[in-house]
Amino acid sequence: TTASEQLTQKLKTLSVTPLQEYPNCFPDVNPVDIYRSHLTSILTEVTGVDAKIVYPALQWTQTLEKGDLVLPVPALRVKGKKPDELAAEWIQKFPESPLVHPPSHNGAFLQFFFKVDKLAEVLIPSILKKKQAFGLNPFLGLKDINEPSKGRKRMIVEFSSPNIAKPFHAGHLRSTIIGGFLSNLYEGAGWEVIRMNYLGDWGKQYGLLALGFEKYGDEEALKADPINHLYEIYVKINKDLTEEKDQIKELEAAGKDASELKDNGLDEQARRYFKAMTDNDKKAIDQWARFRDLSIRRYKETYARLNINFDDYSGESQVKQEGMDAAAKRMADMGVSEESEGAVIVDFSKHVPGKVGKSLERPIIKKKDGTALYLTRDITEMMQREEKYHFDHMIYVVASAQDLHLKQLFKIIELIGYKELAQKVQHINFGLVLGMSTRKGTVKFLDDILRDVGEKMHEVMMTNATKYEQVDDPLGTADILGISSVMVQDMSGKRINNYEFNMDAMTSFEGDTGPYLQYAHARLCSITRRVALSDEELLSADLSLLTESHAHNLLRVISQYPDVVQNTLKTLEPTTVLTYLFKMTHALSSSYDHLRIVGSEKELMKARMALYASAHTVLNNGMKLLGLTPVERM
Ligand code: ARG
Repeated sequence: TTASEQLTQKLKTLSVTPLQEYPNCFPDVNPVDIYRSHLTSILTEVTGVDAKIVYPALQWTQTLEKGDLVLPVPALRVKGKKPDELAAEWIQKFPESPLVHPPSHNGAFLQFFFKVDKLAEVLIPSILKKKQAFGLNPFLGLKDINEPSKGRKRMIVEFSSPNIAKPFHAGHLRSTIIGGFLSNLYEGAGWEVIRMNYLGDWGKQYGLLALGFEKYGDEEALKADPINHLYEIYVKINKDLTEEKDQIKELEAAGKDASELKDNGLDEQARRYFKAMTDNDKKAIDQWARFRDLSIRRYKETYARLNINFDDYSGESQVKQEGMDAAAKRMADMGVSEESEGAVIVDFSKHVPGKVGKSLERPIIKKKDGTALYLTRDITEMMQREEKYHFDHMIYVVASAQDLHLKQLFKIIELIGYKELAQKVQHINFGLVLGMSTRKGTVKFLDDILRDVGEKMHEVMMTNATKYEQVDDPLGTADILGISSVMVQDMSGKRINNYEFNMDAMTSFEGDTGPYLQYAHARLCSITRRVALSDEELLSADLSLLTESHAHNLLRVISQYPDVVQNTLKTLEPTTVLTYLFKMTHALSSSYDHLRIVGSEKELMKARMALYASAHTVLNNGMKLLGLTPVERM
């Protein structure tokens, strides 16, 4: 029997009349949708309003005191009476329901409280059976919900996108965390997700880097630690370049000839080297490709610690010259770009009326010497991605410092006639991390950050010697806890907010931190190990034994998880999930004293354990959705 047949069967035993189908209603996937469907059927009778209006008006609540679902009366658009009068009238007419208590009203809101014994009957078995799949809704990403054979929608999430040989800064860190999360979120909603990294890996500075390697490079060091070695070289050779520039200035100030330095100095050599790269000179390209490959290999190891695996390492180097020529021609032909002082620019004020046009400024598309810029590459890259992947949607996870850049990019795509493409792309931005430094100074690389928080977490763990001794792999655990600390702090606020990088606060067990969440998870694992009941035993539990208010609250909070995930597809904020997980773990930790397992008789033990196992699944799924690695012991 399928899940939906089982559900129909179950509802029959609960004397619930067969559920009506509604758009966006997935009772097999989201138990709360059973209530939405059931309530909609009743409410259409009671109010005379069409189900199409009633169903989407039923909202979930953030706080349990307000009810499990609420209906804002004005949303039904019934004329002639005041909302609270209508509410009172409808409450009068409301028939007895097997699933919900008689409604109440709070001003213009009708409040519905679930009959929790029935909730337990539909919710717990569903979670115990679905396990990792609980909270996911694979139907949302279907091209056509009625015809799954037509396939899934395709999404590109571009994120992280560091620059080779340059520091991996806070902006890259946040992009990595948020982008990894969004990828998981859409995958869970049934989309086909392509995780893409758009590396900064092209330009004159990579010619300079190659020169630097000739001067300062070391094969062994490169292979052992490409990221740091290339960065060291980059720093040294840039210092040389600065000195050269100073020298030229001095010579010129003294009225002396600087032409030798100008014609054959580092800067000119770097330009020539990069020219050789763009001309596909084998030696130059091979050297550059080696730097790139070794760097990517190293990045991959670090990303793996964050549970991230990119499908495509694109980058500025991957943008084709022919493509850029074609795009430049199109912009010129359509009158979008124009010449200005020898360069090519887009003057948005001529194409977009009013303030908006002005605010988009006048970016350069091609410099006097013909070199293409960051923006130009992005224009062509977007078209290349469209051609390669035929995506349905694409997200750029980039710091809000680049808001203007992405606005310019999207507008140009629209102005040159790719309206549909322009509608499929979205910028997900985020604020700054302030003071991201560690005890060893300002952080440069992701590895440094992760190592430092790992060490700090290890120190914190060692303060509790008895517990520390019970952990099998303390260093590995400290590493994971450190990563969780950083990620949870990053995801605590809205994306757009800036936050202070605070090592002490993020590694604390107190407050809503990564270690706290991990602790809540490890505690559930420990209970599971001790109680050791099989799935069959849990599924046969008599859930009517869950009578305490703590059990009821926990059940109600747990039931919200699929709605939370669905709501997150609207907010696209990691904090939507994280805030919920903290709410759930708080309800959990306050119930332990009231819902004891050890010492309870067998049937009660089974029922309570079924509840804890459900909480465990929700916490585990939520943490993984965020990109965290839940630990079993700590
Ligand atoms: N590499 C860029 C930087 O570090 C970020 C790239 C963002 N993505 C894009 N398509 N422009 O600033």
